[in-house]
Amino acid sequence: MNLSSARGILQLSSRARQHIKIQSLSRTNWQSIAMASSLSPVSKYDPKNMEFRYLGPTGLKVSIFSLGGWMSYGKHVTGNPVKECLQAAWDHGINYFDTAESYFKGESEIAMGQALKELDWPREEYVISTKIFFGTGRKEPNTRGLSKKHIVEGLKQSLKRLQLDYVDVVFAHRMDPNVPMKEIVESFTQVIRHLNLAYYWGTSEWTAAQIQEATTIAEKYNLIAPVVEQPQYNMFARERFENEYAPLYSSFSYGTTIWSPLNYGILTGKYNDGIPEDSRFAKEGEFFKDTITRLRSPEGQEKIEKVKKLTNIAEKLGTTMSALALAWCAKNKNVTTVILGATKVEQLVENCKALEVIPKLTDAIMNEIEEVLQNKPEVKQQIWTQR
Ligand SMILES: NC(=O)c1ccc[n+]([C@@H]2O[C@H](COP(=O)([O-])OP(=O)(O)OC[C@H]3O[C@@H](n4cnc5c(N)ncnc54)[C@H](OP(=O)(O)O)[C@@H]3O)[C@@H](O)[C@H]2O)c1
Repeated sequence: MNLSSARGILQLSSRARQHIKIQSLSRTNWQSIAMASSLSPVSKYDPKNMEFRYLGPTGLKVSIFSLGGWMSYGKHVTGNPVKECLQAAWDHGINYFDTAESYFKGESEIAMGQALKELDWPREEYVISTKIFFGTGRKEPNTRGLSKKHIVEGLKQSLKRLQLDYVDVVFAHRMDPNVPMKEIVESFTQVIRHLNLAYYWGTSEWTAAQIQEATTIAEKYNLIAPVVEQPQYNMFARERFENEYAPLYSSFSYGTTIWSPLNYGILTGKYNDGIPEDSRFAKEGEFFKDTITRLRSPEGQEKIEKVKKLTNIAEKLGTTMSALALAWCAKNKNVTTVILGATKVEQLVENCKALEVIPKLTDAIMNEIEEVLQNKPEVKQQIWTQR
């Protein structure tokens, strides 16, 4: 807002202020009046030593660590503790939060929306995303998927649960092979361009070819292309992120908000000697049934052995296994933000220490980590047309 239009608003906003001679105000006087009249809300955010990256090819800056609400907020963590986790993240300079319509059938959005309302942070100071596709568990055929109807109506319902007018980013939580790509791209364009319900849109667990197709259609029909992917990426899940998506980074500067950076918690070391009672695998045993079975198999035990060896490297660096695993993800420049999951404030505090570990990941340490992991994907260079 420039000074003259702000002056206009001030003039219109209250007859009681008419005695103020706006034309003759000095800049200092103007600033103090703007503060007093709430035109310029008091900032509640301190970035501390946080690093920020642009969300793909956009101008939006997000903290390299962010916080998500899957498998935690709205069921196992409710009320004040949700607010405390969000506040702890904010206090460490985290400005980006993620949720989805499907997390605990909408309860995660409700819990995070209520926490945001009570925290009362100025809306321009934080970034929030939600995801549409899986619905909230309703049986009607049009309450999930990527039809125009569900993208528009699903997002409107998400916003109601979040008590917000818009999200910064809306993701297609999966690809819907039953809907023509043109309809999907048109629908996300509509929610951004015409309905003002979001600023950007992204994909989650789409193939690189699907993302390329969506981008090509957007260019051809003057629609809005997706700018960011939300994939799983961690020390044990690398192939798609490092190999398949490589052309997306070089051709489209595609962004990434990566999920399960601790491989559901396995990379904390908490599952080295079994399943602790208050852990996610204990509380959501049915959902993680297959993951738990795999963890008990020889392949899973191999993972645990690797975690033990990586813990030695973490100790050598004077940090924890969790912080090392998170820093390793953030070190990759193709990662825009690492979405943390945390059920307790202490976990967040520990995980935010990863910021200090990134500079300690020298080439020698990265090689040492590779020696343990033995899973570096072979990156096959593909060339795509530049946007
Ligand atoms: N797009 C998608 O398909 C998709 C899928 C999954 C997740 N996501 C997003 O990514 C976010 C993060 O995923 P995630 O929660 O699976 O991440 P994660 O980092 O792999 O796992 C987080 C869980 O590990 C445990 N934990 C974290 N820090 C710990 C610590 N320092 N010490 C001990 N335990 C610790 C906590 O579980 P307990 O305390 O319960 O054991 C926590 O909830 C989600 O919230 C969501 O926003 C997206």
